[in-house]
Amino acid sequence: MRIGMLTGGGDCPGLNAVIRAVVRKAVDGHGWEVLGFRYGWRGVLERQYVELTVAGTRGILPRGGTILGSSRTNPLKEPDGVERCRAALTEVGVDALVAIGGEDTLGVAARLAEAGVAVVGVPKTIDNDLSATEVTFGFHTAVQTATDALDRLHTTAESHDRVMVVEVMGRHAGWIAVTAGMASGADVILVPERPFDIDEVCEQLRRRHARGAGFSIVVVAEGATPKAGTMATLSGERDEFGHVRLGGIGAQVTDEIRARTGYDARVTILGHVLRGGTPTAYDRVLATRFGLAAVDAIADRDFGTMVALRCGDVVRVPLGAAVAELRTVPPSLLEEAAVFFG
Ligand code: F6P
Repeated sequence: MRIGMLTGGGDCPGLNAVIRAVVRKAVDGHGWEVLGFRYGWRGVLERQYVELTVAGTRGILPRGGTILGSSRTNPLKEPDGVERCRAALTEVGVDALVAIGGEDTLGVAARLAEAGVAVVGVPKTIDNDLSATEVTFGFHTAVQTATDALDRLHTTAESHDRVMVVEVMGRHAGWIAVTAGMASGADVILVPERPFDIDEVCEQLRRRHARGAGFSIVVVAEGATPKAGTMATLSGERDEFGHVRLGGIGAQVTDEIRARTGYDARVTILGHVLRGGTPTAYDRVLATRFGLAAVDAIADRDFGTMVALRCGDVVRVPLGAAVAELRTVPPSLLEEAAVFFG
């Protein structure tokens, strides 16, 4: 048996832990061969791959990024993309494929599965916004990195009596913003799930400052949007999956706060810093368990499935379900965070 593996979409800490686990179990446990496609679906379309061995994947467990490289190439945008992927996999003799990615990569995997390709999905994204799994690896590391940065910004905000606005990743869901914001005692948290009114934000800051605080920390998810008609925003270019390139709302919120309150305000964009570096112990273990479970799914010939975490157990769910719905922050968690605003 020869299996293929790819990592697609934005990278995240823990990808190498999955790769190592898949190789170890496939090679040592089953005697299979493993090919790694370079740069996500692009490597399949272009037949760019390397053989992955136990020796070659030794030592990658704590390493951030992905040794295979990643891209946002979308085969569904190519003429006959699904057919070309299937033909490439047949040509290189891949009997089953492990696709590691977020909603976009797994969306392509789901289409290939519908077309009869033997594929198993592994969910990843620092955004933690896939509904079929309780948590994705990479999220825990991103939250810890954001919390460490927020703690540091706290002390300099306090020294200078400033409002520090901190933009974190989170395109459709504010999990990183809410979790790191709560962990670091943020004074305002803005998320995509709840459009904000900049007047209310400024009012919360004024209230806090009137009660004696000289500084404030505002955490903004990159996908947060103002309520219609309350504040002008900018819009950027789109990638192959149709997503607008985000990153800018933090600076706009900072300018508005400065202009409306007169407070000294600064912006920090954590952006891709949150995707880099070594995974936390939690993410290493989750990623490892997902990799092992993906090999089990192939051994059971349970294709068209994705591994997922449910109540602490790694289970399999249909690939289609994995991308059907986004997992957003529930209003109850936003209310809990809001107890500390203002
Ligand atoms: O992987 C998801 C994500 O982290 C989003 O939060 C963010 O909008 C996007 O990736 C940015 O990706 P890139 O700049 O690498 O295309």
